[in-house]
Amino acid sequence: MKIKFIKSLSDYTLNAIKIIFKAGDILKEGFYKHNIYFEKKGIHNLVTKYDTKSEEFIIKELKKKYPTHSFLSEEKGRIGKKEFEWIIDPLDGTVNFYHHIPFFSISIALKRKDEIILGIIFNPLNKELFIAEKGKGAYLNEKKIKVSKTKLIKNAILATGFPYILKQNPNRCINHFFDIAKLGLPIRKLGSAALNLAYVASGRFDVYWETNLAPWDYSAGKLIVEEAKGKISDWKGLPFKINKTNTILATNNKIHNEMVQILKK
Ligand code: IPD
Ligand code: CA
Ligand code: CA
Repeated sequence: MKIKFIKSLSDYTLNAIKIIFKAGDILKEGFYKHNIYFEKKGIHNLVTKYDTKSEEFIIKELKKKYPTHSFLSEEKGRIGKKEFEWIIDPLDGTVNFYHHIPFFSISIALKRKDEIILGIIFNPLNKELFIAEKGKGAYLNEKKIKVSKTKLIKNAILATGFPYILKQNPNRCINHFFDIAKLGLPIRKLGSAALNLAYVASGRFDVYWETNLAPWDYSAGKLIVEEAKGKISDWKGLPFKINKTNTILATNNKIHNEMVQILKK
């Protein structure tokens, strides 16, 4: 895949793309194996050998390029605390991966102080690369992307996800799911938060909502949605704050308020 398609892409993005492609090869190799070793972090929360392999590779390569930056990633947690911080989900969709369901991704974001300045999400199986840099728009492979034009919820296709602690019904997410399901609309639950956000950005989904995500799940996707002219907030419609906000609503902007009215209840 040609990666110099946007002339103004920064070196940060170009280097991170090279790294994400190689991490994608690591995951692909693991995906086609029959026995994927795993450990349990929680009852349904798995970590495979490939989550760690991909993570170690990404951090090692980024550290070589940017030794003064800090890192926040799912399995290793935070390494350092610097002005520039890479936020990494080395395998988003581990449950799919473990069960040989071909839908997962890698997500890498770069935060400067409190602002995400680049976001990259890669699906190694169908080679879809979603990228955004602050102020430069969002792209899927070589094409600029924009959110959908759907104006009303009744015409929308929606996506959601459930946290691993679903049984505890955090933020009454089961009740919200029930309320939305009662509207009789098409709802998808694909199992990768990062790809759900990328799909809102590219107009495939009109809405995505979830609760209890972590920064590595949403940081890249947030910027990609915003750069594709979509909107991100919490379920009450309030500004979304990295590391702080616990519920996420991503829409094409046009149906954001209608969705907030439903989730506010
Ligand atoms: C999970 C996936 C899933 C979402 C969970 C996440 P992981 O990430 O994004 O779609 O519903 O809340 O934790 O564990 O596969 O990296
Ligand atoms: Ca994740
Ligand atoms: Ca993960």
